[in-house]
Amino acid sequence: LKRVTVPALRARKGGEKLVCLTAYTAPMAQFLDPLCDVLLVGDSLGMVVHGLPTTVGVTIEMMILHGQAVMRGSTKALVAIDLPFGSYERSPEQAFDTASRILMETGAQAVKVEAAEGVAESIAFLTGRGIPVIGHVGLRPQAVNLDGGFKARGRSEAERERVLAEARATDAAGAIAMVVEGVTPDLATEVTAAVGCPTIGIGASSACDGQILVTEDMLGLFEWAPKFVRHYADLRGAICDAVAGYAADVRAGSFPGGAEEYRLGARS
Ligand code: KIV
Ligand code: NA
Repeated sequence: LKRVTVPALRARKGGEKLVCLTAYTAPMAQFLDPLCDVLLVGDSLGMVVHGLPTTVGVTIEMMILHGQAVMRGSTKALVAIDLPFGSYERSPEQAFDTASRILMETGAQAVKVEAAEGVAESIAFLTGRGIPVIGHVGLRPQAVNLDGGFKARGRSEAERERVLAEARATDAAGAIAMVVEGVTPDLATEVTAAVGCPTIGIGASSACDGQILVTEDMLGLFEWAPKFVRHYADLRGAICDAVAGYAADVRAGSFPGGAEEYRLGARS
């Protein structure tokens, strides 16, 4: 395999930090691929590119279409695809049907599931049948309706115990890595020490074995972003300025100009 392999990913536990970002489209995957170890086709695409209020409305078909685009735009990174809400929780068999279909139709190497403790059985079932699974513990966006919002985890002893139990069960089930989202630095440290697979943090301090962000968040595409996002660009400003410039030129009749016109008898 010319992509980052699962054993290579697992070997990064406690070593060189894993660089991970989300990708939903071929051009973005092309930009990120040379610089990242893992590209995640996250179900956050429902909110980021489809305007949904949460990730609950995302379908298997949406994940497959975006997964195919990201595979076409990348050659080197390990590509993992989220199993969307409702497509895996019922049983290990349901999880296998969804995961195998997604891997077969996209060519991606791994799937990711939000790993409530009850999902560990499915992680083991998939792993035992050749499907690498990344877990996702702590703040689990697909549980937004139960939790009443996107809330950080680990601020009470009961919550800490629950997240640790989820992480241990996910690791014991054979997960190749786990996303740890929205937890206190203490809890991120504890989880990272408690599991044998690499932890990939998002809003979970630098204690994790790697980091992930939603690419559009860190590029500054949105007015609002969670507290844990660092802005590495102001894409929103750049796009708004560019469109304002275009609109002004069109209205003034100065776009297109001579250089942007086809000419009789010319070759291009
Ligand atoms: O859907 C997503 O983008 C994710 C990552 C932010 C971990 O689950
Ligand atoms: Na997700």
